[in-house]
Amino acid sequence: MPGPEEEIASLRREIERHNRLYYAEDAPEITDAEYDALFRRLQALEAAHPELRSSDSPTQHVGTAPTERFRAVRHTLPMLSLTNATAAEDVREFEGRIRRILELADDAPVGYVAEPKLDGLAVELVYERGRLLVGSTRGDGTTGEDVTLNLKTMATVPHRLEHSAAPPIPARLEVRGEVILTRAGFRKLNAERAERGEPIFANPRNAAAGSLRQLDPAITARRPLALFCHSAGAIDGAGFATHWDFLAALRQWGLQTNPLNRRCPDLAAAFEQYAALVAARDTLPYEIDGMVLKVDDLRRQEILGQVSRAPRWAIAYKFKPQQAETRVLDIVASVGRLGTLTPVAELEPVVVGGVTVRNASLHNMDEIMRKDVRKGDTVLIERAGDVIPYVVRVVKEKRVGRPRRFRMPRRCPVPGCGGHVVREEGEAAYRCINAACPAQLKSRIRHFASRGAMDIDGLGEKLVDQLVEHGLVRDFADLYRLDATTLAAMDRMAEKSAANLSGAIAASRRPDLDRFLYALGIRHVGEHLARVLAEHFRSVDAVLAADETALLEVAGIGPEVAKSVRAFADDPKNMAVVRRLLAAGVEPQAPAPASGGLAGKTFVLTGGLESLTRGEAERRILHAGGRVASSVGKSTSYVVVGADPGSKLAKARKLGVPILDEAAFLELLGDAS
Ligand code: IVH
Repeated sequence: MPGPEEEIASLRREIERHNRLYYAEDAPEITDAEYDALFRRLQALEAAHPELRSSDSPTQHVGTAPTERFRAVRHTLPMLSLTNATAAEDVREFEGRIRRILELADDAPVGYVAEPKLDGLAVELVYERGRLLVGSTRGDGTTGEDVTLNLKTMATVPHRLEHSAAPPIPARLEVRGEVILTRAGFRKLNAERAERGEPIFANPRNAAAGSLRQLDPAITARRPLALFCHSAGAIDGAGFATHWDFLAALRQWGLQTNPLNRRCPDLAAAFEQYAALVAARDTLPYEIDGMVLKVDDLRRQEILGQVSRAPRWAIAYKFKPQQAETRVLDIVASVGRLGTLTPVAELEPVVVGGVTVRNASLHNMDEIMRKDVRKGDTVLIERAGDVIPYVVRVVKEKRVGRPRRFRMPRRCPVPGCGGHVVREEGEAAYRCINAACPAQLKSRIRHFASRGAMDIDGLGEKLVDQLVEHGLVRDFADLYRLDATTLAAMDRMAEKSAANLSGAIAASRRPDLDRFLYALGIRHVGEHLARVLAEHFRSVDAVLAADETALLEVAGIGPEVAKSVRAFADDPKNMAVVRRLLAAGVEPQAPAPASGGLAGKTFVLTGGLESLTRGEAERRILHAGGRVASSVGKSTSYVVVGADPGSKLAKARKLGVPILDEAAFLELLGDAS
C-alpha cells in the first residue's frame, strides 16, 4: 500500500488529468460518479493530513486552465462551482448552516428558488449598453476562453438585449448560464459521427462543450445548442432584491431562463419540486442531473458569501443515478479503427432506467485494474440519461471463489488477424499493430467511404465486411478495381444496386482535397483540420512532404497533429496506398484559389487587438484570401502586433518579417476587401 503522501500525489495527478480530459478536451475517460469518488478520496486524505495540503491541489480550484486555442477572457468575478448534496439530509444541513449564519428563528422561512440543474457547459455573456461584447467559457473559474463568435450562432443568445421600461438595461450586464444540447440533437450528432468513423461523444454535455469550442463557428451553428441563463456575474446599473426578480428581468431583456424554475418558500416546497423534477426528468428534451436550490434574497446571499470553491447560499441536490446489479459473463477486447483494444464487459442483460443493458465499456487496462473487475463478478451498472452504461464497482461480497484477472490478449482477437498487441510508452491503450487487421481495415474502409470523406453511397457496413472477408479489398485502392459483376456476387446485392455502387465508386474519383485527406484516416485529422491542411498545402504531395516545422506554421495545427501527419507519411505502407489510389485514377481537387486581395499572403497574429477579436481578425484575413499561421517562419508575409505581443514579435524582427500595427493591418484589410 502506498503511504498517504504518494497516494495524495497520485490522486492529484490523476484528477488533473481527468480535469484536462473533461474541460479542455471534452473527452472524459471516466464518469462523473467515478470522478467524484476520486475527488472525495483526495479531500478526505487532505483533511486527515493537513501537513500535506497544497494550494495547487485540484481540491482548491475549479476546472482546468483554458486551452490556447481561444483568446483568454478573465471573469470579473470568479465563476464558482456548487456543493453537491446526494441526500435530503445534506439539504437539511445546508439549511441548518444558513439559519445559523443568518440567525434565523426556527419557523422563519428561508425562501428559495429551485431550478433544474442543467447538464451542460457554463458560459458567461457580457453585455455593454445592451450589446453583446464577449462570451466565454468557465475555464478554470478565473479565466475562460473567448467563444463569442460561436455563442453568437445560437438563437437563444441575443446579440442585443431587448429594451424594457422596467427594469431598464444595465450599463454592463454579466450573465451566466448553461449551454446544452438536446437529447435528439446529441443522438443525431453521434449517429453522424459513428457513420464517419469519428469518435462519439460520451454524453450530451461533452457534445455541447465540443460543439461550442469549435474553431469554426460554422460548425457550432449546425448544432442544436441552447442557452438557459441561471446566474449573475458583475452588474453595473441595476439592483435586484431577489434572484427571482433577476430571472424575470433576464426574460424581459430577451434572455432565456428555464421554464421549470420555481419559487419555493421553504424546504418542504423545495422537496416537492425535487420530486416533480425527478418525475419529469425522462420526458424533458434535454438532460438534467439534479436541482439547484438557491437562497432567493440577494442580501442574504451576500451575507452568506462563499467558501473556497462554492457559494454558501446554493446547493446542487443531485438525482440518484440509475443503477442495477448484474453479472459479468465475460470480458472481451474489441478492436477499433485505429487498432485500439477496448475491454468490454459482456453482461447478463439487465434493465436500467427502462433500457436493457448487455455490455459496458471498461475503457482500458488501468480502469480494470483499479476497479478489479473479473469474469463472473457481480457488478453495479449505471446509466445516466442516454449515456453508455458503465461499471460503477464490483460487489465484492458476491464474488465467488477466486476468478482470474482479465489479461489483454497478446495477439489481436479479430478473426483472420492475430497481429501483435502492444502498449505504447506512456499510453493507457493497447493497440493491434497489424495495419491489415480486418477489424481496423473494415472500419477504415467504412470511414473512407463515409459522407464527409469520399462519400461513396451504397457501400454499407455489411458489404464492407464481405468485401474484406473475401479478400477483395485489402486497402482503399482496391475499391477502385471492383466491377459491377464482382459486387453483384455479394450477398444481398441486386444487379441494380451493384451497378449503382459501381457508378458511385467511379464518381468519387475527383474528391475535394480536404475530403481525400480526411478519408485517409490520419490520426487527429478530422474534417476541420483536413480543410486547414488542404487550404494551406493545396496538394496531396505537399501535405505529405511537409516536415514538422512546416506543418506547425499552419494556424490550428499543433504538435500532436504535426507528429501524426508526419508519422502517417513516414510509413511506407501508407504512402504505397496513397500512390495506388492516385494510380487508380483518384484525383484530389485543390480548393479554388483564393481570389481576395490578400491571396498568397501569410499572417501571424500576436498580442490583443482593440477593434477585433483574434477570431474576427483571422476570418477577415481568410475572407480576403490570405492565410493565418501560428508561428513566424520564412514564409510569413506579415506579423500583426497588438497589445502585449509575445515572442513572435522578436522572431519577426530577427527574420526581417514586415510588422504591422493594428492601424496598418486594418488599412490593409480595408484595401483588400
Ligand atoms: S448557479 C455559484 N444554476 O452547475 C452558482 N448553476 O456544479 C453558479 N449549473 O458551474 C451557478 N444548472 O455550470 C446554477 N440552474 C443552475 C445550474 C447551474 C447547472 C451548473 C453551473 C455550475 C455548475 C456547478
